[in-house]
Amino acid sequence: MDRPPKPVLPKPILYVTRRLPPAVEARAARDYDARLNPDDHPVSAAELLAAAAGADALLCCPAERLDAALIAALPASIRVIGTFSVGTDHIALDAAQARGIPVVNTPDVLSVATAECAMLLILAAARRAGEGERLVRAGRWTGWAPTQLLGQGVSGRRLGLFGMGRIGRELARMAGAFGMQVHYRNRTRLPPEQEAGAVFHASDETFLPVCDVLSLHAPGGPATRHWLNAARIALLPHGAVVANTGRGTLVDDAALVAALRSGHVAAAGLDVYDGEPRVDAGLLALENVVLLPHLGSATVETRDAMGMRVLDGIDEVLS
Ligand code: DGY
Repeated sequence: MDRPPKPVLPKPILYVTRRLPPAVEARAARDYDARLNPDDHPVSAAELLAAAAGADALLCCPAERLDAALIAALPASIRVIGTFSVGTDHIALDAAQARGIPVVNTPDVLSVATAECAMLLILAAARRAGEGERLVRAGRWTGWAPTQLLGQGVSGRRLGLFGMGRIGRELARMAGAFGMQVHYRNRTRLPPEQEAGAVFHASDETFLPVCDVLSLHAPGGPATRHWLNAARIALLPHGAVVANTGRGTLVDDAALVAALRSGHVAAAGLDVYDGEPRVDAGLLALENVVLLPHLGSATVETRDAMGMRVLDGIDEVLS
């Protein structure tokens, strides 16, 4: 007897808020009834809610704020939220948990790219690369001179990592190749194989005074908001360099601007901003700051891997 044909089940609906790398969108379109954003416009909360109607899964980005009110208003059909980021501070995780909606992200796959970006900013800030580039582009460079744009070398200097998770540990490894001595401040001390010779500090008071270069790698959110404030900046050695590829909210911009103006902080390299894409006017006005537009994970291979990673997480929840 002939078996009845298997019913063709409809694919689950996945709403994707922004353009994703082609291979990631192709996989999403193959496995889901995918609602994509072909012109890549930033979506408002109202648009996000409307587009998510009836969807099984939402794939969002750090630029969207999924606060408690938005999570409460999500359609009942949403069974999982995926974020195209390792950071989850843009999502009210408690509210998602209260609704029983799991949140999946992209750990591990962006650690090397983000650490590379931190190293880029440390070098660019310490060696005054931003000022030099602007000089050349403005047609104001009159030629080599012995005292022109002298910066600081990093070899032999002490690098302080605020946050020694996956990205911090990658940066520690890279900094070793530049001859830097690594110190770190973390909630807990790491086992020796992860510490790899870096010096643990249990307090800001011992940590900050040894940071010739301070690089921020802690998560964002209320617990770390404005961690780098005037009081902590005062503990840094005079002429320190600050880099931030973590979250803009870690830094009190007004305090950092004041320290950059006085020279207590010689230079800063920033990839993330409190309230981005708005950038503090005081930072924009300073020569001794290198400003990048949140490029930490922005390599072709990393963004592909992030997309595959978040789809793996969504697949797993829906399977
Ligand atoms: C993240 O993943 O949290 C970054 O900020 C974007 O790559």
